[in-house]
Amino acid sequence: MKSLDIFRVTSLAHSIVTEYLAEGDIAIDATIGNGNDTMFLAQTVGDKGHVFGFDIQEKALNETGNLIFSNGLQHSVTLFLQNHAYVRKYIPEEQHGNISAIMFNLGYLPGTDKSLTTETESTINALSDSCDLLTSNGIITVSVYNEQKNGLTEQLAIMKFVETISSKHFETAHIHYPGRVKTPPELFVIRKR
Ligand SMILES: C[S@@+](CC[C@H](N)C(=O)[O-])C[C@H]1O[C@@H](n2cnc3c(N)ncnc32)[C@H](O)[C@@H]1O
Repeated sequence: MKSLDIFRVTSLAHSIVTEYLAEGDIAIDATIGNGNDTMFLAQTVGDKGHVFGFDIQEKALNETGNLIFSNGLQHSVTLFLQNHAYVRKYIPEEQHGNISAIMFNLGYLPGTDKSLTTETESTINALSDSCDLLTSNGIITVSVYNEQKNGLTEQLAIMKFVETISSKHFETAHIHYPGRVKTPPELFVIRKR
């Protein structure tokens, strides 16, 4: 049985995605970083599915590529050294409208240059295009760390974005952790109806 830890955004995001992503599905990791989310997505979709991943850092691609290879999942994963703002351009056209889960884990790669962090404008562009790429009942999770550089601005922009997308076509949720002193992360969830 999988354990649900609602007090860690990364764990909660995985638990939510598990409910919407199945073997054979197509998924996107919009911020591959150390590859934990890419691995989780690839294991969930299996051999018959596929995961597309984006990061702007070669280090993230190399490390995630190695992790994926050492777990024998290389046939199920395609990694792009690209800004996720170009997600629409890089996802094959035949998969537009066919994506079951898209994960964003915003901010910087721990242990590397903190200036190489996600930026509000590209995040919102990527989110907007991600909504179009989703299949019906597809899910987007966005973990945001508002204590980081840009974090609060990014979080407020995401809040505005989720408040203004069509409630006819999407359901949204916002999970936050009141009273937490250090690193108060937040999770946004968007489901296409
Ligand atoms: C918090 S880390 C992601 C952690 C990762 N999901 C994991 O499981 O290890 C954020 C990542 O986003 C990447 N990033 C920053 N701006 C980006 C952009 N515009 N497009 C794609 N990736 C970006 C950073 O390089 C960093 O690796």
